[in-house]
Amino acid sequence: MKDVIGKIVEKNLIDDDQPSLDVFDLDYFDKRVESLFKAFPEDFFTHALSIKANPFRCLLKQVLKHGMGAECASFQEAIHAKNLGFSPAKIVYDSPVKTRKEMFEAIKLGFYMNLDNELEIQQVGEYLATYSGPVPAIGLRINPVVGAGADLMVSTATKQSKFGLPLLEDTREKIIKYFEDNKWLTALHIHVGSQGIPLDMFVKGVEVMHKFVSELESRVPGQVKTIDIGGGLSTSYTDSQEPKAFTYQTYRDKLQEKIPELFSGKYEIVTEFGRSLLLKAGTSLTKIQSVKNWVLGQKPILMTHLGTNQFPIEVYCPQVRKHRFSIYSADGKKKEGEEIMVDIGGPLCFQGDYLAKEVELSNPEPEDILVVHDTGAYTMSMYCRYNSILAGGVYGYRRQDGIVELECFKKRETIEECMAFWGQEQSQLV
Ligand SMILES: Cc1ncc(COP(=O)(O)O)c(C=O)c1O
Repeated sequence: MKDVIGKIVEKNLIDDDQPSLDVFDLDYFDKRVESLFKAFPEDFFTHALSIKANPFRCLLKQVLKHGMGAECASFQEAIHAKNLGFSPAKIVYDSPVKTRKEMFEAIKLGFYMNLDNELEIQQVGEYLATYSGPVPAIGLRINPVVGAGADLMVSTATKQSKFGLPLLEDTREKIIKYFEDNKWLTALHIHVGSQGIPLDMFVKGVEVMHKFVSELESRVPGQVKTIDIGGGLSTSYTDSQEPKAFTYQTYRDKLQEKIPELFSGKYEIVTEFGRSLLLKAGTSLTKIQSVKNWVLGQKPILMTHLGTNQFPIEVYCPQVRKHRFSIYSADGKKKEGEEIMVDIGGPLCFQGDYLAKEVELSNPEPEDILVVHDTGAYTMSMYCRYNSILAGGVYGYRRQDGIVELECFKKRETIEECMAFWGQEQSQLV
């Protein structure tokens, strides 16, 4: 990281005009993608990156080069992927809340779409009854109800989950009937959850789904063609290395052991990883604007440009999202030595806006550069408009012969771009 910070300082990219920014390690990302493909190399696998985790165009162009698909959480994301050149069949349109218009457009555009519930099935069925074009793969999201992990906010396989239809003893027959009545329903989708889910729970989810597919085979033979096993493998926020227990190869080995038929080639298989591919490639930087140390016996408070504006989960769920931090002086030198414990405040106008509390840093001073590690997923993509704080620039980097080369993914937002969100000056009668 030292060489990257050095380059940022050398290029004057962190200053009053841009007090915070993000960088993304493209070499690291490539390695993660390579390890995913190495573990699941079969051509019946489509690895669709969960683009909500980080949808910057320059990054998605890289994703495209890897031959990946794009898992999209909204119609807009699906159009974003299409405009960038993803082939429609590799665009996985997964929103849990779709309008009729969005679903019909998705069919016309040839996206692979996963439906969420019985109303969506009914509406698509009615549409297809009058539609004569080619019908893409359309699936149903089921909830395998295998339980929750350490973070309830991202655990989607409890009985009370809002996603998909729960596969339970008393709902099984009903779900089978949807497949019997709707021959165009040719795929099944699960996503057990995200960070904090034990690996065995993911495997269990796929096992439950696969058992259900076998049941469907006896009732509607040959109808199911695609199995979408979702994303969700954990990475680590507290360790600089990826966790050994969660390698893609370990996941594959466990799936192979429990569900060998998954690898027979009988079905097209889709994966939807996000965080585990992206997180450790990203780093966020902010200037420390000021340091408050007024109350005797209390921790100093660093005032910075990053808080809920980019890190809502970290602010509201600090118990499950603790990042690693480090600190550099304004001239790009890493600060080492005795550490003090501080709280890190963000720029937003509410008292709860702390990026983190009780963080140990070496002699933090105004103008220093605070480095937030492991921010490549679900941070830049969660940018919020409250207080109209301008989003910082985003830069990709690679090392060529050991030298860092920075490329701009996105310049810092302008005041005009930011204010466009607040509507027109003149209201109009409607
Ligand atoms: C349906 C779906 N697929 C894939 C993902 C990606 O999960 P992760 O980034 O943890 O791999 C999510 C994330 O919440 C999701 O909701």
